[in-house]
Amino acid sequence: MSNKFDEIVKKENALLCNTYGRYPLAISKAKDCRLYDLDGNEYYDFLAGIAVCSLGHSREDLAEVMAEQAKKLVHVSNLFYQEPQLELAEKLLSTCNAGKVFFCNSGAEANEGAIKLARKYMCTVKNENRYEIITLEKSFHGRTLSTLTATGQTGPIKDGFSPLPEGFITVPFGNVNALRGAIGKNTAAIMIEMVQGEGGARPLSSDYVNDIVQICKENGILLIVDEIQTGVCRTGRMWAHQHYNITPDIFTSAKALANGLPIGAMLCTDELAKGFTLGSHGTTFGGGAVVSAVAAKVLDIMINEKMAERAWEMGEFAAAEAQKLKAKYPDKIAGTRGLGLLFGIELTFNGTNVWKALLEHKMVCNLTQGTILRLVPPLTITKEDITVFMNVLDTILETVEIESA
Ligand SMILES: Cc1ncc(COP(=O)(O)O)c(C=O)c1O
Repeated sequence: MSNKFDEIVKKENALLCNTYGRYPLAISKAKDCRLYDLDGNEYYDFLAGIAVCSLGHSREDLAEVMAEQAKKLVHVSNLFYQEPQLELAEKLLSTCNAGKVFFCNSGAEANEGAIKLARKYMCTVKNENRYEIITLEKSFHGRTLSTLTATGQTGPIKDGFSPLPEGFITVPFGNVNALRGAIGKNTAAIMIEMVQGEGGARPLSSDYVNDIVQICKENGILLIVDEIQTGVCRTGRMWAHQHYNITPDIFTSAKALANGLPIGAMLCTDELAKGFTLGSHGTTFGGGAVVSAVAAKVLDIMINEKMAERAWEMGEFAAAEAQKLKAKYPDKIAGTRGLGLLFGIELTFNGTNVWKALLEHKMVCNLTQGTILRLVPPLTITKEDITVFMNVLDTILETVEIESA
């Protein structure tokens, strides 16, 4: 690693709040499915900026849209009507059963909006004192005070931030009885990811989802689906909830929606949209002209180039290749999981050394929950790239020593 890298680390330590456990890499540029460090070394990208750059890095077509819009109008605020925001809304709503959308700047902000809308709808439209949101263990919903409280994880994400907001309950994953038991007269909504991303590429089974939908119906409870990571073709459908043939009352999107520019969207049925009235919610930057124009182009490409089908095909290929490795190393690979290109390889032991060795072999992916190699590459990834990754993993697994998980 160059001296420049050491200088960067030193500078960062002096300048930035120390919140990130960074990978030992400084990226100077990225193109398609490759990243380049300061010395020009090339890396295979199986992370896509954590499921964000789904159409690959540094695309000319998106850069053109960005530049053209930036020359016309960048920002005026939401005090004004803006056509690019409406064009994006029209395209986005044509991909799902939602009737209305609210634009914001990040996943956490979209989920914050979803939680606020659920409460507001119950209070002002239904006239009911229902405010509690039930979420699942190992879920991840963001880092604002309410979304981190909704998040079904413990540790640094929650420590030291008390008092956390009231009105959130977490129940064990997959346990319908626990879910039924958690419902009370104040329950407003159940909030789920169709595939838990940070939780280790863990899909909900169809039966479980059907039970959740049934429980919502029986109890007059709203269903919120967090599609921040699963949305925009990643799992093999435009929205992961479409695999399950359900219509959430509210769902959220962010990450891949503008292929790397910050954006969030909260989508809801026309009925739920009655909850928000003038002045009840807002943001300065959300739905700005540049990000909206780029996101509209992203959706065009996603649809025209059939990226959902591609994500599915590549996900199936990756799963089949990983299964071959599981057959070869049954004591080292516990299984594979995920949906489309939100894909996990579960090791039987702590995967830190495997992850490090992958990085040394110029393969960038993520280790989550200690044992799961999470692959969320650009959807433009090729079978050749996946094969290279699996071959490298094969050589690593051959010699790696098993540590305790
Ligand atoms: C499922 C899910 N929800 C919410 C978030 C939070 O999004 P952001 O980091 O844009 O606030 C994430 C981020 O990883 C996520 O994966």
